Amino acid sequence: MKAVQYRRFGGSPEVVEIDRPVPGPGQVLLKVTAAGLCHYDVFVMSIPEDQYFIGGLPLTLGHEGVGTVVELGAGVTSVALGQNVAVYGPWGCGTCHQCSQGRENYCERAAALGILAPGLGAPGAMAEYMIVDDARHLVDIGDLDPAIAAPLTDAGLTPYHAIKASLPKLGAGTSAVVLGTGGLGHLGIQFLRELSGARIIALDVDEAKLQLARESGAHETLLSSDPDVVAKVREMTGGRMAEGVFDFAGFQESLDVARQLVGVGGDFKIVGLGMGGATIPVGFFATPYEAHIATTYWGYREELFEVIAMAQAGRLDVHVERFAIDQAPEAYARLHDGTLNGRGVIVM
Ligand SMILES: NC(=O)c1ccc[n+]([C@@H]2O[C@H](COP(=O)([O-])OP(=O)(O)OC[C@H]3O[C@@H](n4cnc5c(N)ncnc54)[C@H](O)[C@@H]3O)[C@@H](O)[C@H]2O)c1
Ligand SMILES: [Zn+2]
Ligand SMILES: [Zn+2]
Repeated sequence: MKAVQYRRFGGSPEVVEIDRPVPGPGQVLLKVTAAGLCHYDVFVMSIPEDQYFIGGLPLTLGHEGVGTVVELGAGVTSVALGQNVAVYGPWGCGTCHQCSQGRENYCERAAALGILAPGLGAPGAMAEYMIVDDARHLVDIGDLDPAIAAPLTDAGLTPYHAIKASLPKLGAGTSAVVLGTGGLGHLGIQFLRELSGARIIALDVDEAKLQLARESGAHETLLSSDPDVVAKVREMTGGRMAEGVFDFAGFQESLDVARQLVGVGGDFKIVGLGMGGATIPVGFFATPYEAHIATTYWGYREELFEVIAMAQAGRLDVHVERFAIDQAPEAYARLHDGTLNGRGVIVM
């Protein structure tokens, strides 16, 4: 079967021919229908060999996967052949305290047990077939378009998770800032629009991305490179600054702007990680009173059901650019160069 692999440190992704996997006991084999490209993949392919922390190479890419169940390992009875499913990617052990609450993204034992997410250590979705380790990591998508469903598993789930926990602060008359209106950010804007009362102020470095932000429901858009950006947000918020700031870029330049936009008691969620290593000062004179600063990673298992339900109800407009599997290297080059708008998706 064809697969898109990262094979050499510092190299580019390649389309290769590998053996079709066979599901072991408890596992499920999917015929992949769509797989999304995430900026996190670009980060992974930039990690120096001596710091690489997610298993070895070659790595079959793709941590946003959707497919059809085509083979069941021994003992699997809770999914059926022919079912269309999305893959919950942050696999955990399923039995620790975090996993017991559906918080497999924060599994306490994944590292000790050597559990790696698909496309981030385990073979991923950017192949004609993929193994899913357990049926509980599948969510039925019915007749949802696979190209729309694939990005929901991360570009949807991750901002949904970050925003959902902040919703009590985002009632009518409040403001929310979204920095980085790419794959994650354009859906973050839509969750805020659908679920909160906040006025949404979107920031990006690229005017084309801001156009997508407006189409996604942002009330205001600003270039984050604008030297007056902080003053403009102060004016837009009546001097209060934002009750919720969501950084889906995570570069030093975006964090340096984002941290100045948080109001007293506001939530500041750092979701983007840039190319790793960006930090902000936190302290009595550096942070607004009672502001809450958190990083978030992916989302809870139940939240993927919620995101898919929103899409099935027609409440999300996922902006995708579709590519054939042979075009994956070109799609990654465009993601790297910032010329992809919305989410790039490999459609099988
Ligand atoms: N925390 C998690 O669980 C998680 C999950 C998925 C992705 N990520 C990270 O989230 C980030 C976004 O991922 P994506 O796939 O949406 O990427 P993307 O490339 O689709 O979007 C990133 C956007 O940020 C914009 N941007 C770049 N620098 C900026 C700045 N200084 N100010 C404002 N905007 C800026 C870009 O123009 C682009 O529109 C990446 O860092 C990725 O690694 C984190
Ligand atoms: Zn991702
Ligand atoms: Zn666990």
